[in-house]
Parts: sequence; structure tokens; C-alpha cells
Amino acid sequence: MSLTLIAAVAKNSVIGNSKMRKMPWYVPEELKFFKENTMGKVLVMGRKTAEETGKLRARDCIVLSKDPAYKLHGFITMTIEQLLAVNAYDFDKQYAICGGAEIYKELMPYCSMAMISYMDFDAPGDVLMPALDRTVWRRAQSVEMNKFTAVSYVNTDCKTYSKIISKH
Ligand SMILES: NC(=O)c1ccc[n+]([C@@H]2O[C@H](COP(=O)([O-])OP(=O)(O)OC[C@H]3O[C@@H](n4cnc5c(N)ncnc54)[C@H](OP(=O)(O)O)[C@@H]3O)[C@@H](O)[C@H]2O)c1
Repeated sequence: MSLTLIAAVAKNSVIGNSKMRKMPWYVPEELKFFKENTMGKVLVMGRKTAEETGKLRARDCIVLSKDPAYKLHGFITMTIEQLLAVNAYDFDKQYAICGGAEIYKELMPYCSMAMISYMDFDAPGDVLMPALDRTVWRRAQSVEMNKFTAVSYVNTDCKTYSKIISKH
């Protein structure tokens, strides 16, 4: 089981703009970085992000919605609980948790790694990146790129689905 959170965050913590319904910046090098780091993984997006981006080529895509009847071309619909349950016994697949803010917040405790591109500019927008809990997330690596710094983190207290079950 492996969930990796992947996000791009502006200096002012903005990750999106709900009025524009597209990313508030265009940085080809960061898009290339995203592509390289998600190839071979299953992409997981919240319903709003999935509607915005559509299916991305050459990667299986899951859309998370609370409506089990929801359908989006090229995506498999799941709830978060279904994703975590599948993930609990699927040791081979790697999932890239691709946002947006709601999904990052809910799945962050179950991600073993995070890869965050810190852009070197502020961006206009109203969707903000939820904070990583620094008591459990440890900075692992940092690479300077053009217009952003790619930082990876390891979750030292990664939750699993079986832990959720045992709480109830
Ligand atoms: N900078 C980045 O790296 C990045 C990456 C991705 C997205 N974004 C931006 O983020 C924004 C969208 O983020 P957002 O927070 O508004 O929306 P979102 O996280 O993309 O999607 C929210 C939707 O996810 C579904 N959902 C939430 N909790 C769920 C659960 N427990 N089980 C199943 N489904 C669940 C719900 O869909 P239903 O309403 O259908 O139930 C909810 O409306 C956009 O502006 C986008 O551009 C930025």
C-alpha cells in the first residue's frame, strides 16, 4: 500500500482559484515534474479537481465523490473509504493523491510520502494548501528547480485503513 501526496503550492499557500476553474499559474517545468513523478501511479483526485483537469494520459484515474452514482469520462468513481479499503490489501499499486484541498486534508494522514513543489511566487486564488503536521512529517529531500523547489517529506505516523476499523 502506498499513497503519495503531490501538490504545487504558491508562496502565499494558494493551490487553486475556484473562480478560474484552472490552475492559477502555468509553469511547464513543474508540469513535467508532476508527469515524471506520477507515471506508473494511479492518480486520485477530488471531484472538483477531476472535473477541472479531466483524465490525464497514460495513467489510471480515480475520482473521489460522495455520490456513488457520479460518473466522469475516463475515471473510476470511489469514496475515500473504498480507496483506503482497496489500498489496504493492494500492496503493488502506488497511488498519487493529486488534490484538491479537501482531498489533501482528508487523505494526508494515510499518505506515506508527500512531494510538494513550492513555487517562488504568490498566486491569486481562494483554495489553500492544508498544513502538513510537522510533528509527524519529516523533510527528506529538496531540489531547486526553475521557479520552484521540490521538497519531499516522509510521514512518520502513517495511518492505515485497519487502524480506522479498529477505532469503531
Ligand atoms: N496546486 C495543486 O497542486 C492543485 C492540485 C489539485 C487541485 N488544485 C486546485 O484545488 C481546487 C479544488 O480543490 P477543492 O478542495 O475545492 O475540491 P477537491 O478536493 O478537488 O474535490 C472536492 C470533492 O471531493 C469529494 N470528496 C470530498 N471528501 C470526500 C470523501 N470523504 N469521500 C468521497 N468524496 C469526497 C466531494 O465530491 P462530491 O461533491 O461529488 O461528493 C467534494 O466536493 C481547484 O482550484 C484546483 O485547481 C490544485
